[in-house]
Amino acid sequence: MTCARPVLFFDSGVGGLSVVAPTLALIPTAPVVYVADSAFFPYGTKAEGEIAARVPALLGRLAERYNPRLIVIACNTASTIALGAVRAALDVPIVGTVPAIRPAAAISTTRTIGVLGTAATVRQPYVDDLVARFAADCTVLRYGSAALVELAEAALAGEAPSHDAVAAELAGLFGQPGGERIDVIVNACTHFPLLEGDMAAVAPPGVRFVDGGPGIARRVAHLTQGQAWPDAATPARLVFTRAGNRERAIAATLAARGFAAPETL
Ligand code: DGL
Repeated sequence: MTCARPVLFFDSGVGGLSVVAPTLALIPTAPVVYVADSAFFPYGTKAEGEIAARVPALLGRLAERYNPRLIVIACNTASTIALGAVRAALDVPIVGTVPAIRPAAAISTTRTIGVLGTAATVRQPYVDDLVARFAADCTVLRYGSAALVELAEAALAGEAPSHDAVAAELAGLFGQPGGERIDVIVNACTHFPLLEGDMAAVAPPGVRFVDGGPGIARRVAHLTQGQAWPDAATPARLVFTRAGNRERAIAATLAARGFAAPETL
């Protein structure tokens, strides 16, 4: 294992950045390849079959091209639909992102949890299973939001999100019967922690947010324990599957955060 072998983070868009940050906090010199499947964005409004057909094949190409030591599927939608197929197809350790229902249930005092994800994620049997295993004594309300995904992408492209628009999406949870009792929201889409400040500003006081990022970072650190890392950090590589204006605007924001110039697959 050479120390330059990267960790590859994969998402439909910019959401996976909410997983890169806690990972770099634990492994500051980890070489990162960040891949946004912008040509097929968004994932959350697509049918299961489309995601299941696209993600394993694309990750196969990416694994060949970048030879990662580990792949993080930094996307709840892709993970809840395709994690098993990707693991079966690739000979690289794969870490998935699944809704942080267990930590949410551990801290909820009202025993009412909101799961905020994409429409595709919140309807997955994978989520039913997490609820049955870890939150059986809780009321779990779910809401799928495509608008918050778009707002997070726009925010990274330089457009500050409107708080009215964010509040309208949170109403999808709090407006459900019993929604006023929600004290913890699971950010079950990696895009949403990027808007956490905006969401906290419009959510009822005291509501807490949890996401999978810190747990994934610990998992990556555990799976790579004992491996060599470079002595100094290098700029993260940024890869899109399409080159458009949105990608250029996002790349400009990320250049200011130390990312390399964008590449197109
Ligand atoms: N960031 C992704 C997730 O965690 C999906 C967003 C989208 O493409 O709809 O689910």
